[in-house]
Amino acid sequence: MRTQVVIIGGGPSGLLLGQLLHRRGIEAVVLERKTRDYVLGRIRAGVLETGLVGLMEEAGVAERLHREGYVHEGTQISLNGEMFHLDFKRLTGKPVIVYGQTEVTRDLYDARESVGARTEFEVDHVVIHDADSDHPFVTYDQHGQQQRLDCDFIAGCDGFHGVSRQAIPLSMRREYEKTYPFGWLGALSETPPVHDELIYANSDRGFALCSMRNANLSRYYIQCALSDHPGDWTDKAFWQELRRRIPAEMAEKLVTGPTIEKSIAPLRSFVTEPMRWGRLFLCGDAAHIVPPTGAKGLNTAASDVHYLYNGLRQFYEERDSEGIDRYSERALLRVWKAERFSWWFSGLLHRYPDQSPFDLKMQQADIAFLRDNEAQQRAFAENYVGLPY
Ligand code: APR
Ligand code: PHB
Repeated sequence: MRTQVVIIGGGPSGLLLGQLLHRRGIEAVVLERKTRDYVLGRIRAGVLETGLVGLMEEAGVAERLHREGYVHEGTQISLNGEMFHLDFKRLTGKPVIVYGQTEVTRDLYDARESVGARTEFEVDHVVIHDADSDHPFVTYDQHGQQQRLDCDFIAGCDGFHGVSRQAIPLSMRREYEKTYPFGWLGALSETPPVHDELIYANSDRGFALCSMRNANLSRYYIQCALSDHPGDWTDKAFWQELRRRIPAEMAEKLVTGPTIEKSIAPLRSFVTEPMRWGRLFLCGDAAHIVPPTGAKGLNTAASDVHYLYNGLRQFYEERDSEGIDRYSERALLRVWKAERFSWWFSGLLHRYPDQSPFDLKMQQADIAFLRDNEAQQRAFAENYVGLPY
């Protein structure tokens, strides 16, 4: 079998790329290890930058996110209960849209199925062959049969644990990583959000975040020890700890209820360079990971998709390889800025075990400077709503 582009991974990166290519008549086959329902069972951040919203509009998949998404023009930051507002719409002219990543993925799957684009689920042993040649191909097993797909290009959209990054020889790759000495305990509850904007809280007891999915589905996080397990936390203990970390007026308003999902995620910063090897292009979590603090995971995957989609479009429509030749350079320039913001924002809000009293004073001064200085607020806002592509 042959296709123009093989996309390994049916998460947000692969699906968005596939939909954009389809709209330009460029054929892509998505190979996904899991089932559609399994992929849609993942709970992930839901803050969409305007760049991602624009790509969803270009892909013809933005109708529900505009109907059901929440336009947020600002956010709340608190330090030991003292809360202040950052108005990123006033500072940048742009809002963000709060809309669950699961819904983004669902909309993309629905769109892909409606146009009859080919997705192969439950594939195993995907192997990339001859990526550094003009005739790459991919083999994989499905229902006990080995398949082969010859193609022009391969998009590695298979996430941090996928095979694409490993297909680039170690001698050709440079990897950069930072791990954080804590995790995020996240809980989903069918309760109304505590506030109409997100609340990022730094407290003596650690970080907390109040987010949402819809008018009756809230998402909360508290910083926890890496040795913790979700089962260590009863609902009562979770709500009690969350209340102790957020401003008192919010703690009083908080509507609690049974959590319908509880999980712990470690925090990591990671980048691999380059993001291209021959006719293989890495995209999204396959190439980079950010701590969730700035909600940049999906949004940075979207900027990769923007550069790769336009590079492939330029190749097929104009027979010009400039876009694919400069893909890695262009994508990484923005990836590193998202890594910086996510690392900085994590440092601003979390309590680190090795923090000295002086470090704590610096963190508090950083927050006070953000509270009091319009230039710092604008810099924060530009990063939060999304730097230009
Ligand atoms: N073969 C086929 N599919 C694979 C393989 C493989 N060897 N390995 C992983 N996959 C699939 C996974 O099952 C998953 O559905 O690739 C997909 C990768 O999706 P994500 O991990 O979501 O990565 P990405 O699409 O880049 O999304 C980036 O969205 O999911 C969030 O945390 C992620 O915020 C980040 C953003
Ligand atoms: C979420 O809603 O899951 C979320 C929102 C904002 C973040 C991180 C996670 O910065």
